[in-house]
Amino acid sequence: MTETTTTATVTATTTARPFPDAAEVEAARALLAAWDDQQAAYVTDREGRFAIMLDVVDHVVPEGGVVLDLASGPGSISRRVLERRPDVTCIAVDHDPVLLELGRTALADHADRVRFVDADLWDRDWARVLEGTAPHAVLSSTALHWLPADVLARVYADLGRVVPEDGVVLNADHLRADDGRRLFAELSDRDDRRTQEEGRAAGAATWDEWWSEVVAVERYGRLAGERERRFADRPANPDLSLAFHVEALRVAGFAEAGPLWQHLDDFVVLARR
Ligand SMILES: C[S@@+](CC[C@H](N)C(=O)[O-])C[C@H]1O[C@@H](n2cnc3c(N)ncnc32)[C@H](O)[C@@H]1O
Repeated sequence: MTETTTTATVTATTTARPFPDAAEVEAARALLAAWDDQQAAYVTDREGRFAIMLDVVDHVVPEGGVVLDLASGPGSISRRVLERRPDVTCIAVDHDPVLLELGRTALADHADRVRFVDADLWDRDWARVLEGTAPHAVLSSTALHWLPADVLARVYADLGRVVPEDGVVLNADHLRADDGRRLFAELSDRDDRRTQEEGRAAGAATWDEWWSEVVAVERYGRLAGERERRFADRPANPDLSLAFHVEALRVAGFAEAGPLWQHLDDFVVLARR
C-alpha cells in the first residue's frame, strides 16, 4: 500500500465553540468517564497499561516537560498525565472533530496545560501542529493500529525527529499479527470475550452505544458529518507485529526499543531516543 498525502488536514479546528459552561464541562466529564468504561471493556487491563506509562513519564519527563498524547481521542491519557504531574503540559493530537471537542470540553479546567489539536497522521506535515515543541514523551493507546505499515513507519520516523535525546515513545496496543501460533490467538480471543462480557455486565456501553449517546448532544452531534467524511475511505486496520513496531522504531533513530509490558496480545512498546 502506498502512503498518500492528504491535503488540508493539518488545520486548526474550524468549529470553535464558546467556552463551555460548568454544566457542559460536567456532562463532558461524564461522557469521558463512559468512554473510559467503554474502552476498558475492550482492553483487559487498560489501567495497568496506563500505570506503567505514567511510571515512565515520572522517570523521564523533566520538571515542566511536555507530553504528546498521540491519537488522543477525548484525552484519556492527557487527563491521567495532568493529574499525576501538575508541572507537565500536554499536547493532544487527533483527527476526529467530535473527540477533540469532547476532550477540550471535559478537560476545560486544565485548559492552561492541555492543547487539543487537529492533525491527520496520514499527512506528512502533521508534526507542524507541535509548533516546534519537542515532547519529552509521546504516549499513544489503542490507536496506531489504525495506520497502514508505511504510514506508521513514517510517523515513527517523524517522532524520531521531534523527540529530544533521551525522550521516549510509548505505544500501548493490541498487536495481533497472525504468526500461526493458534493457541496464543485463541487464548487472547477468549480473554477479549470475557473482558467484554464483564464490562457489559458492569454497565459499560458498547462502541456504538457510546457514539449514539455522544452525537445526541448538539455540541458534538454537529461535528458527526465531518467525522464521517474524514474517516470514510480509510483502509482496514492492518495487523502488525511487535517485531515490526520495534524495528520501525529502531530505524526511526530510537536507541532502545522493545516491549515494556504485556497482557496476552496487548503490549506497551517503549522506545528511547
Ligand atoms: C480507540 S481511539 C483511542 C483514543 C485514546 N488514545 C484512548 O486510548 O482512549 C483511537 C483514536 O485514534 C484516532 N486516529 C485514528 N486515525 C488517526 C489519524 N490518521 N490521525 C489522527 N488520529 C487518528 C481516532 O480519531 C481515535 O481518537
